Amino acid sequence: EKGGFPHYMLKEIYEQPWVLENTLGGRLKEEEGDVELGLGLDPLAIDRIHVIACGTAAYAGWYGKYLLEALARIPTEWDVASEYRYRDPVVDERTLAIAISQSGETIDTLEGIREAKAKGARTLGVINAKGSSITREVEDVLYIHAGPEIGVASTKAYIAMLSAMAMLAIHFGRRRRILGKEEAQGLLKEMRKLPRLVEEVLEKRPLIAHLAEKYHQAQDFLFLGRHVQAPTAYEGALKLKEISYIHAEAYPAGEMKHGPIALIDEHLPVVVLATRGPLYEKTLSNIQEVRARGGKVIAIATEGDGEIGKLAQDVFPVPEVHPLLAPIVSVVPLQLLAYEIAVLLGRDVDQPRNLAKSVTVE
Ligand code: F6R
Repeated sequence: EKGGFPHYMLKEIYEQPWVLENTLGGRLKEEEGDVELGLGLDPLAIDRIHVIACGTAAYAGWYGKYLLEALARIPTEWDVASEYRYRDPVVDERTLAIAISQSGETIDTLEGIREAKAKGARTLGVINAKGSSITREVEDVLYIHAGPEIGVASTKAYIAMLSAMAMLAIHFGRRRRILGKEEAQGLLKEMRKLPRLVEEVLEKRPLIAHLAEKYHQAQDFLFLGRHVQAPTAYEGALKLKEISYIHAEAYPAGEMKHGPIALIDEHLPVVVLATRGPLYEKTLSNIQEVRARGGKVIAIATEGDGEIGKLAQDVFPVPEVHPLLAPIVSVVPLQLLAYEIAVLLGRDVDQPRNLAKSVTVE
């Protein structure tokens, strides 16, 4: 069942190149510079988007906000569903509410979408489980096609959600004439490479095993990232806490000096998403700030980056890709790091304590 893997989680991490092929499948139309999603929804009939989800799916939503705003210029709010459903959101008929969910059964997400619908919103589900409750509640469904996910910690569904949000943003951007054909073609070409790039990261698992060996006794971890890599940092911290039970926090790196920097000492490993992109230089200064206070930096950096090795104690190189797509490649070492640490600590990786795969009660 586990296909020769000791845990479902590891099997699912290794399925990710195939999952990406499946999610992107016949949807990318490189020649037209568009994405075919088969949605009934008219992207010109909306003025704003509300993205709602829980946990890992919520981080995919946060990533989606960056892309929808960058590529389609649609004002996008992002909320955890448990807040959204009770905050009396301002919604009208030109609002599109997007629910993201692997199971399609998460109660807060389901109720959040009902709330938006009752207020007149258009609704779209970005969902893995066919025929699940949320798919029956929304007008349009964009299936992520990740296949069944058994491990309680979500991995392959996450990268499928990220790629679905990227496709959605490109599609909306094209229809709204914000995104030019050539720019879209460039992005689609990069998306096609994703399965192979994730495969390359998986081949470097021994490097992660080495890092896990080195850091698994830490009491706390900090994860930092900026822009689209901020959600990656949060997802990395969530993976680590849920399966290893090590306390981990994440911050958008620019927030460091507003408080969390006080935590830094020689006992704190700090994982920094430092791939090349518009905020790369700023992230380097964040790394310097950590180093100056004795913190141990594990940098997730673009392959061939010579500078970063001088600053960070440890570097995990990830293949270069368009900066907006970097999270899809960069989250993989963080999944593996959480996995390897949890195994070293003897945790029950597939069934972490106190957690259920789908949260159908409030
Ligand atoms: C984390 C995890 C949870 C889920 C969350 C939402 O690894 O699995 O945080 O992401 O409970 O679940 P879905 O996507 O089924 O709505």
